[in-house]
Amino acid sequence: MTAKTNIPIRVVFVCLGNICRSPVAEAVFRGVVQRRGFESSFLIDSAGTGSWHVGYAPDDRMRRTAEKRGISMTNMFARQFTEQDFLDFDHIFAMDRENLQDILTIEPHGHGSRGDGDETDAPFRVRLFREADPEPGNYQVPDPYYGGKGGFDDVFEMVARTSEALVDAFEEEFDLQTDT
Ligand code: 4NP
Repeated sequence: MTAKTNIPIRVVFVCLGNICRSPVAEAVFRGVVQRRGFESSFLIDSAGTGSWHVGYAPDDRMRRTAEKRGISMTNMFARQFTEQDFLDFDHIFAMDRENLQDILTIEPHGHGSRGDGDETDAPFRVRLFREADPEPGNYQVPDPYYGGKGGFDDVFEMVARTSEALVDAFEEEFDLQTDT
């Protein structure tokens, strides 16, 4: 069954630091949504499970990689994922399994899972982002922070194709109307 909606679908992308993977997912996903005319249907944000980089702009390596592909990551500042995010967002997309475990560990009871950190009990609204990736893989976006530059290009490619597929899935599920 599909549901027509004018109510924004609230999505948040979550990684560890909120300076590489989740902000690029936020920026790329927003770009796909804008290009396809669904901007008024979504509220889009990102956060990190860790607090080390709170208030920081995205990592320069990630920002440059995105800018080469026409995606701006200016005016973005890292914040930490909190319990409040379970209330503020409908869909929570973790970049890797550790992020997913950390999210479920802080989940308050009564929001769809036991909150005991068991990912097999994950409510549908907390998922690995790359479950939507049309290419086979291990469902995780690898952490590029300590790796070489190639890692940032790989992250961008995964995020770009997964974002397209995710918007397809939302379009199908919610019968999204384009902005006029
Ligand atoms: P992110 O990358 O989780 O994709 O933002 C990282 C950023 C910083 C660190 C690890 C991963 N760190 O350990 O400081």
